[in-house]
Amino acid sequence: MVERAGRVEGKVAIVTGAGSTPGPGVGTGKASAVVLAREGASVLLVDLHAERAQETMEMISAEGGRAEVFAADVTKAVECEAMVTAAVEAFGTLDILVNNIGLASLGTVVDTTEEAWDRALDINLRTAFLASKYSVPVMVEKGGGAIVNISSISALRGDGTLAYSAAKGGLIAMTIDMAYSHGRSGIRVNAIAPGHITTPMVISVSAPGARAEYMNALRSEAGLLGTPGTGWDVGWAATFLASDEARWITGAVLPVESGVLSVTPLMMAPYLRAIPEP
Ligand SMILES: NC(=O)c1ccc[n+]([C@@H]2O[C@H](COP(=O)([O-])OP(=O)(O)OC[C@H]3O[C@@H](n4cnc5c(N)ncnc54)[C@H](O)[C@@H]3O)[C@@H](O)[C@H]2O)c1
Repeated sequence: MVERAGRVEGKVAIVTGAGSTPGPGVGTGKASAVVLAREGASVLLVDLHAERAQETMEMISAEGGRAEVFAADVTKAVECEAMVTAAVEAFGTLDILVNNIGLASLGTVVDTTEEAWDRALDINLRTAFLASKYSVPVMVEKGGGAIVNISSISALRGDGTLAYSAAKGGLIAMTIDMAYSHGRSGIRVNAIAPGHITTPMVISVSAPGARAEYMNALRSEAGLLGTPGTGWDVGWAATFLASDEARWITGAVLPVESGVLSVTPLMMAPYLRAIPEP
């Protein structure tokens, strides 16, 4: 049994993308689900890959927490509606929604295909739109709730991920608009902009070997703290924003990025130069 501070004691949460790409470490959705459960929430673990959500559930159960798996494709309206119904049926209500699904893709405005554009918007933006569309009415009826959208620093800085950046920027705009429309119903809506963290998904798309080590070192050194970020850093931030400790915070974007947004890349050059390129 894990020690709990009870930040979200008795609350019911849905986390979309609550599984994690296989590999070492933990994704942001998996970490958010585990921390929410650790802090007292009952969590519906939603993922396209049921076996990934199952792993998250095993982790939560081993710590004495409450969770259930719900396999769904969150790009589909009918599955999102069923997901919200499942949370209410399993745990009685819905207080928290973490919109975590996302996948980065490289490309400029010229070489991004229409298919890649549509896919990026589907995965990174449509999922949050649909999950929120069916969650908000339940929260309105009960008089409040908290939604946390996992965006990215790609929405705030150029990095050659045109469609992904546009979708994550749209997610921030959606965050602010939802905060406006539903604040008087007691619903807070915030976004997190994670930086260059190392999750299993990032590792899986990196070239293996010395190049991967080099990229890991760059991700750490690019931030002011010079230490690596993990899914847990996002999980704790999401749990804070979902909790009553954040009761007067809405429409905000919380960077979780070791300060990379607050320094000019030029000033980090000495740190980055010190890492030998393979
Ligand atoms: N890793 C980073 O450096 C980083 C940086 C900034 C933002 N983010 C954001 O964090 C979030 C999670 O990233 P991660 O690295 O933990 O990814 P991840 O791939 O480990 O986890 C995402 C999960 O979402 C699930 N999923 C994908 N499409 C789905 C769908 N249509 N319906 C249901 N589930 C679906 C996947 O099966 C997977 O288990 C994403 O939104 C990503 O854009 C990550």
